Amino acid sequence: MDSFQPEEPDFRELREGKTVLAILTIEDDAQQFRGNRSNFIDLIRTGQSMGFIVYVLAVKNLVFSKRSLKGFVYNMETETWQQRLMPFPNIIYNRIPLREDEILPAVKQKIAACHRHPSVKLFNPFFFNKWDLFEWLRLSKTTKPFIPSTRKLINIAGLHRMMRKHSYLYLKPESGKAGKGIMTIKMHTEKQLPYRLIIQENKKSATYNCSTIGKLWSRIQQQSGGEAYIAQQGIQLASYNERRFDLRVLVQKNQRGQWDITGVGARIAGASSITTHVPRGGMIDDPEKLLAHSFNEERARKLLIKAKNTAVLIAKQIERASGHLLGEMSMDLGIDSDGNMWFFEANSKPMKFDEPHIRQKSLERIFHYGAYLAKAKQA
Ligand SMILES: Nc1ncnc2c1ncn2[C@@H]1O[C@H](COP(=O)(O)OP(=O)(O)O)[C@@H](O)[C@H]1O
Ligand SMILES: [Mg+2]
Repeated sequence: MDSFQPEEPDFRELREGKTVLAILTIEDDAQQFRGNRSNFIDLIRTGQSMGFIVYVLAVKNLVFSKRSLKGFVYNMETETWQQRLMPFPNIIYNRIPLREDEILPAVKQKIAACHRHPSVKLFNPFFFNKWDLFEWLRLSKTTKPFIPSTRKLINIAGLHRMMRKHSYLYLKPESGKAGKGIMTIKMHTEKQLPYRLIIQENKKSATYNCSTIGKLWSRIQQQSGGEAYIAQQGIQLASYNERRFDLRVLVQKNQRGQWDITGVGARIAGASSITTHVPRGGMIDDPEKLLAHSFNEERARKLLIKAKNTAVLIAKQIERASGHLLGEMSMDLGIDSDGNMWFFEANSKPMKFDEPHIRQKSLERIFHYGAYLAKAKQA
């Protein structure tokens, strides 16, 4: 770590009309700041090559009364992070990595202050909650057809009602991610133990067969540990070599400030997994290939177009209903064996896409949109 420069430098020369984008994250005692460092480095490199000033900003260093802030910059030659005084940002890209950090009062207060600030623009203000997403998408005729029937999982009577309507259910934590805490229930009425509960573990899943709904409910409660859950109609996903797959769509705003598709990837579920996440044994594959295998080439082409159009409609509705400025989101869309399209979730802090063509474009788009926001502000 370089020694810190105490006096406020004059940034006029450094700025030269450049837009300053700060990647917002949370401070950390042991490692200075949290978040995916390699993602931050990619962002800094991309932004600099596009003529931006880019740095990582810890929440505690976001001080509104100052013209320059303590930022972290990455030295590409020495491959080290250095603390520097940097100009106050025009744009703040929120990448606070954890929900727990985002709900700290000190963090909430700074984000609220950004919203009130006359010149700074912050995008992606918070993580989504799965229940809110379904409430928002239910509100619009354009997005309602894509959401599986969803209820809050509150008591055994509610679970029973859902099970009478759907013999296959997904139970998901409202604030979950990466498949954590997900369970499925399937009814096999002909069996002695008719309720089959599958719980997603690290890479595999565990199965419990229960004789009564009472027993099923206590097993679910034990597993959910009091966390808020939703119960959702299970969708019979299209499959490839008997493995289910779904689509991951990255939707970002472009240089005109409009929602646009950056890329569509596909994830195939691991052999004994109820989700398609790569860390849980899932695999990346080409959506066109998978769809063409399940349907046919012509239909696959149309489904992919439909997935893109649907994702844009959904992003618009989420932004409208959330009441906040959003710049990007990733979306999990499923296609059932009949070719119907379903929305599973959207994530306002998308993880890296490993498909290189999507990855590169996704980095550039952050700055296209940043430039748009910076200009929009002056108008
Ligand atoms: N209602 C559902 N029907 C069928 N599959 C589902 C359903 N909900 C989720 N899944 C599968 O589980 C995966 C993870 O669910 P998701 O809602 O995205 O939770 P997470 O936040 O943990 O990623 C999805 O990508 C999809 O493959
Ligand atoms: Mg997901």
